[in-house]
Amino acid sequence: MASGASSSPPPLAVAAAAVVLLALCLCAPRVGVDARPPPPLHGVRPLAFDEGYAQIFGSGNLALLRDGRRVRLALDESTGAGFASQDLFLHGFFSAAIKLPADYAAGVVVAFYLSNGDVYEKTHDELDFEFLGNVRGREWRVQTNVYGNGSTHAGREERYDLPFDPTDDFHHYSILWTSRRIVFYVDETPIREVVRTPSMGAAFPSKPMSLYATIWDGSSWATLGGRYRANYKYAPFVAEFADLLIRGCAVDPAADHSTAAACEERTSLESLAVPAEQRAAMAAFRRAHTSYSYCHDRRRYPVALSECGGGGGGDAGGAGRLPGRMFGPDGMRQRRRHRGGRRAGGGSQDDAM
Ligand SMILES: *[C@@H]1O[C@H](CO)[C@@H](O)[C@H](O)[C@H]1NC(C)=O
Repeated sequence: MASGASSSPPPLAVAAAAVVLLALCLCAPRVGVDARPPPPLHGVRPLAFDEGYAQIFGSGNLALLRDGRRVRLALDESTGAGFASQDLFLHGFFSAAIKLPADYAAGVVVAFYLSNGDVYEKTHDELDFEFLGNVRGREWRVQTNVYGNGSTHAGREERYDLPFDPTDDFHHYSILWTSRRIVFYVDETPIREVVRTPSMGAAFPSKPMSLYATIWDGSSWATLGGRYRANYKYAPFVAEFADLLIRGCAVDPAADHSTAAACEERTSLESLAVPAEQRAAMAAFRRAHTSYSYCHDRRRYPVALSECGGGGGGDAGGAGRLPGRMFGPDGMRQRRRHRGGRRAGGGSQDDAM
């Protein structure tokens, strides 16, 4: 220290040190073997597996870690795996910290969703986070979707490029479902809001649903429309779930749901929706990361679905609306011209499903 000023280190040594430091920095995220989930959202205590969930398929491919506070789901040649909440809920806030399989994962689908397909076969409701695996070097893609009353002919998909690598670490993915709106979140940021409108009718989910988490082989469609199938040379594909959190209203599907409104009030779900100070963050995320929007898919919906608004903007609510010029006629994001090398050869189809 005292003699520090008297001689400066040789430039080569400085350069070497910088290279070492840089290498360390680049490597740091890879030490994600024991990645820690971020702190729980909204101060709600996550439930251990046995307290609130049950395995639904996949025999040996579901493993519990840390006293059931972490769930590992694997997909191999024999099967995927999945679990569901023990209860059905009429409205709630549902969240998990999820870490996706690393490396080659084409054809692999990880889903975190609400559904009542078991109870209402023909008129089921569903709210989805779906993670679509990709070939090596290409990012996972995330889509959200909303179905109501068996409206599976009318998908309401949106897809996003995540601003981080979801295989490196745990990130929170959450769904808020109230009688008035649906909000999807990535970490703290709301990324999509569907405000209930009269014209949506029963397409807005309105019957009790269970929470599900699954991993399965979606080779026929998940990656570039099925062009890249799951390759079991890279199996098992492992997804980890932590911070399984439900703040909601459990109901008996056979009973009447007259108490549900009181429960929704008590759990103050609406207060979680989209705080004013997060509207700008939501708008920014949507502008930067939305890669497909059903509201702009004129091939599929020559007339945009009612909730998209006259301007074809997106879901109701100013912060959600995206300008039509961002998208091509197939609803895919138009890449900017200065990155347009890829566009010339068929453009955004590159990213198509
Ligand atoms: C839901 O769909 C069923 C079957 O198509 C229909 O009979 C019913 O009226 C729908 N519910 C509502 C609330 O629109």
